[in-house]
Amino acid sequence: MGQDSHLLTTRQLFGTHWNLGDPDDLLSVPGRINLIGEHVDYHDLPVLPMAIQRRITIAFRARQDATLRAISQSYKESWFELTAASEPSPNGDWTNYLKAAAQAARMRWALRRGLDAYITSDLPPAAGLSSSSSLLAGMTLAMLKVNGAQATISELMEVLPEAEHFVGTRGGGMDHAAVLASEAGCALLVHFNPIELSSLPIPPDWAFLVAHSLTTAEKSGPVRAQYNARRAAGTNALQMLGLESYRAALRNYSSEELTSAAARLPKQEQRAFLHVVTEAARVENALATLRLADIGAFGHLLTASHASLRDRLQVSNSSLDELVRIALEAGAAGARLTGAGFGGCAIVLCRMPERDRVRAELEKRFYSKHADFDPERQLFFAEPSGGALHV
Ligand code: GLA
Repeated sequence: MGQDSHLLTTRQLFGTHWNLGDPDDLLSVPGRINLIGEHVDYHDLPVLPMAIQRRITIAFRARQDATLRAISQSYKESWFELTAASEPSPNGDWTNYLKAAAQAARMRWALRRGLDAYITSDLPPAAGLSSSSSLLAGMTLAMLKVNGAQATISELMEVLPEAEHFVGTRGGGMDHAAVLASEAGCALLVHFNPIELSSLPIPPDWAFLVAHSLTTAEKSGPVRAQYNARRAAGTNALQMLGLESYRAALRNYSSEELTSAAARLPKQEQRAFLHVVTEAARVENALATLRLADIGAFGHLLTASHASLRDRLQVSNSSLDELVRIALEAGAAGARLTGAGFGGCAIVLCRMPERDRVRAELEKRFYSKHADFDPERQLFFAEPSGGALHV
């Protein structure tokens, strides 16, 4: 479905459900894939995500009071007073994402007016495509809108990653930057602290296939502890080595020096540390190869990133590994898991003329074994799309 028909459907669903006439406004926030730079954003190292055409759409209308009411196609109706946004709902309840947005809006911009919203999405949830950060970003933008307020990307970036901690994941800022600020046709290079964004065009003959592993990674569920543990191991490693930050370490020491220093660390910390410093180098190289449109070299870096996530950080699973293996055997230039891992999607980079063959091979060798496979939602080509601030 194209973006226009999404907007239309969401507008209609708003009207039917709330029986309040037309919404005041609609907005849409894309999902994202991350091309490279995985599990490094929370250590303030640069990442290279890209917004995609799959998105969440929100139809909304201002209320006169301070209540937020929302419903989505997949989740039951939810409502709360903005003043109660700081009290979390039970773990796993989608209301926590709405509360995170409301809390951010109240604390940062002192927004007081509530809204009614209807939310639709063609982004598979818990798939590593940032559906939760897109919802958080979208609801925050809707809150700003109904209160007649505006925020810059830097202000949003100060608030949204922090707000996500409300749902329990100590994530970084990659997803929010990507879904807000990506430009159509481009990947977004994100530097943190301070935030700096630049758009890098994706060569027109590169195709990114998004392949769902048919295993999910629910951020508010068990994955949360696993994710937070990877972050903690990386941070503990720095402290144990007496290093101030990964940025300082990479500036002051060669990769050989860092690798030999890592030998002094306990296993978990050592693995996390080596993943982070090697991934940082891969991002650097990936930027150079993207600028040269060297698909072979870029693809190798993607595959090497997957190996590091699988063997060092240990955030892959057998389905993601199998998808990557089949894609490479079918002639893809590179493949890796994208996002936090523990399930969710792999991305597969192909030369345009080979993309249908690689896709067919994945269908034959992986998806044909799964009766519940949905080819429309679970295996699709990512189009480099504009973020919510550019739509
Ligand atoms: C999740 C987080 C991001 C990032 C990735 C791993 O998507 O939300 O901030 O840490 O995992 O790269």
